[in-house]
Amino acid sequence: MQFLPLHYATAFGAACLLAATVGAAQSPAAATKSAAAPTGQAHLLAHEAEVNALLKKMTLEEKVHMLHANSAFAAGGIERLGIPEIMTSDGPHGVRPEQGRNWKPPVDANDASTYLPTNNTLASTWNRDLGYAYGTVLGSEANARGKDIILGPGINIVRAPLNGRNFEYLSEDPYLITQMVVGYIKGVQDQGVSACVKHYAANNQETHRDDVDVDMSERALREIYLPGFKAAVQVGGVNTLMGSYNKFRGTYATENAYLMKTILKQEWGFNGLVMSDWGSVHNTDEALRNGTDLEMGTDLYLMYSGADQSAATAAAGTTPTAPKRSYYDRFYLADPALAAVQKDPSLLPLIDDKVRRILRVMYATKMLGATKRQPGAFNTKGHQATALKVAEEGIVLLKNEGNLLPLKKSVKTVAVIGANADRANSMGGGSGQLKAKYEITPLQGLKNELGSGVTINYVPGYTIARDQKADAQQIAQAVAAAKAADAVIYVGGSIHGYDYTKWSDNAYDAEAVDKPDLKMPFGQDALVQAVLGANPNTVVVLLGGGPIEVAPWAGQAKAIVEAWYPGMEGGNALAHILFGDVNPSGKLPFTFPVKLEDAPAMKLGEYPSTPGNPLKEMYKDDIWVGYRYYDTYKVAPQFAFGHGLSYTTFEYGKLTVKPAAQRATVTLTVRNTGKTAGAEVVQVYVKDLKSAVKRPEKELKGFEKVFLKPGETKTVTMQLPADAFKYYDEAKKQWVLEPGQFEVLVGSSSRDIRQTGSLTL
Ligand code: BGC
Repeated sequence: MQFLPLHYATAFGAACLLAATVGAAQSPAAATKSAAAPTGQAHLLAHEAEVNALLKKMTLEEKVHMLHANSAFAAGGIERLGIPEIMTSDGPHGVRPEQGRNWKPPVDANDASTYLPTNNTLASTWNRDLGYAYGTVLGSEANARGKDIILGPGINIVRAPLNGRNFEYLSEDPYLITQMVVGYIKGVQDQGVSACVKHYAANNQETHRDDVDVDMSERALREIYLPGFKAAVQVGGVNTLMGSYNKFRGTYATENAYLMKTILKQEWGFNGLVMSDWGSVHNTDEALRNGTDLEMGTDLYLMYSGADQSAATAAAGTTPTAPKRSYYDRFYLADPALAAVQKDPSLLPLIDDKVRRILRVMYATKMLGATKRQPGAFNTKGHQATALKVAEEGIVLLKNEGNLLPLKKSVKTVAVIGANADRANSMGGGSGQLKAKYEITPLQGLKNELGSGVTINYVPGYTIARDQKADAQQIAQAVAAAKAADAVIYVGGSIHGYDYTKWSDNAYDAEAVDKPDLKMPFGQDALVQAVLGANPNTVVVLLGGGPIEVAPWAGQAKAIVEAWYPGMEGGNALAHILFGDVNPSGKLPFTFPVKLEDAPAMKLGEYPSTPGNPLKEMYKDDIWVGYRYYDTYKVAPQFAFGHGLSYTTFEYGKLTVKPAAQRATVTLTVRNTGKTAGAEVVQVYVKDLKSAVKRPEKELKGFEKVFLKPGETKTVTMQLPADAFKYYDEAKKQWVLEPGQFEVLVGSSSRDIRQTGSLTL
């Protein structure tokens, strides 16, 4: 089989607060279920005596054997000492199917798992409890499948709208990330296995992900790109972390002393292990000294050829007379590391530190030690119910003019238009691919919802294929169906799926490649316009991993729903929302620009690279990411960060902001003034009125999702600690709180502020 270029191939390798700056109440679930667990990183030191005793028994060869993969997803293992292999699996929205050691998938494997909505859908729930529930499903299923580490969550900042991997990430806002990541990690780790937060750091695009050299100001690094990772370590207590492919300030992330040693291990006190992304180590000495504890990667020859191990070993150059060494023994942290220490014994403490970190994770996940892990569960009804709940709370109602939604169940004929309605997405996207136990497509969900008494007329309207243009005949069929129906539901947007015969079809939401543009693919703009022309009451549903341009027809549409990639129960969740069984409560975790060129990464930044140098990228957009840019630079978005409508209405009562020593308490009432039960995400933004440095117009520093029955009022109280008011001072190399006046803006989105208060600190 033909080899793909390396930057594609690595995809298949896969294919394959600051303590929450705000002390908004931790989710009750997370609080109770994790009450007994130690916080931060201390739990990783609970078995230090045993770890050191075990380390003493190991030969140098055995130590080095622990530092690298021994097949696509397994590493280490020393039989003599009873040390098992570490088994890993992607991640990040379900446990992926078995690939087999040599990329020969086992024939009868019971590996069709729960397919959760993608990470961006989770972020859209703004519900910390669901972060925990989501992690619980992953941890439980990983455990049941014999995995020790689940390769998720993905938490890189959604900076560039074209990033092919935005669907695996959470948000453009660091605070929202800190809040959602903690529950996810605790959920996974309370099941006994480890989470692996990825990709550290500055891996915000797939174009040239293997070799792009990213640079940015120290302020942008500290204020925007690192808070999620810091919260994962210090609040989430994550056991493992993955070093990204890209370079940062001239050095690969996996070998980057500043990122790995100075910040992660020293400043943040990370006690766990750093693994490389698959094939992201490039130098033995640098990795030994500066960063990675465990080198992961995959034997691409085996992966593509399906050949057996000995054939691969021969192909890779081992002479028949030499002792059989596997492909993995030639990793940077394998034979070359052994040779390096043998030559220079002063390197030994570095090896010991790495082995120690690996053993700590093994004790923390009960792979070693007297107590054994409780068994996990696979594909339970409860897990499927979590998938449904996350989708129901993550789907976002973007527009609903004249209350077109919810639709009435008394309809007789429904036209469902759009090839996405009938398309499964679980096997798509790269390393996040899943063999789902089942996947309810939007079309199936609508059939389930409406039953046999309603006629559903499905018309694809377009063909999912690269460079597909609008097709007059298909449009005519769609228009005819739209005219003949009582209700029209258009399901389009982007796709998420690998078709192995046509790689390039996947240049939409997929790993290792960014999107070509932000337009609706496959000629959909013309189709949507024609369908809306034929029936102005058409509801437009979008699928996708990030923002998409809707400006060509958004003014014409009365109702627009963003459904992301909503997982195995996604079609049911969507139908529940469209027909009013569930009141939407999702909010956008990133801005939808009117057009791609408006995005700060395009306008101020250098995405995808510095002009004339494809391997260099300076983040000139600095801290002006997402709404920080749109609001400060007064650029109108299509849909604002934090936006999402409901079938009911909420009234925000009077706001009080009570300052105390370097902190504040924010209190207000919220009332459901409509006739339907619903949930509102009350968002708190802080604005510094006068500052020595330019600061954003507003920054999210707190939120609460409040569930209200019709007529019900609740009092919402949120704490804003000192951190909520600080910025990173590059000269002082620290966060500073500049005394003075601050505004507290409370609203339903970043552009829908309902109450304003102020305080002087
Ligand atoms: C991806 C990682 C993934 C790994 C293992 C890599 O290509 O970047 O996110 O966990 O493969 O599949």
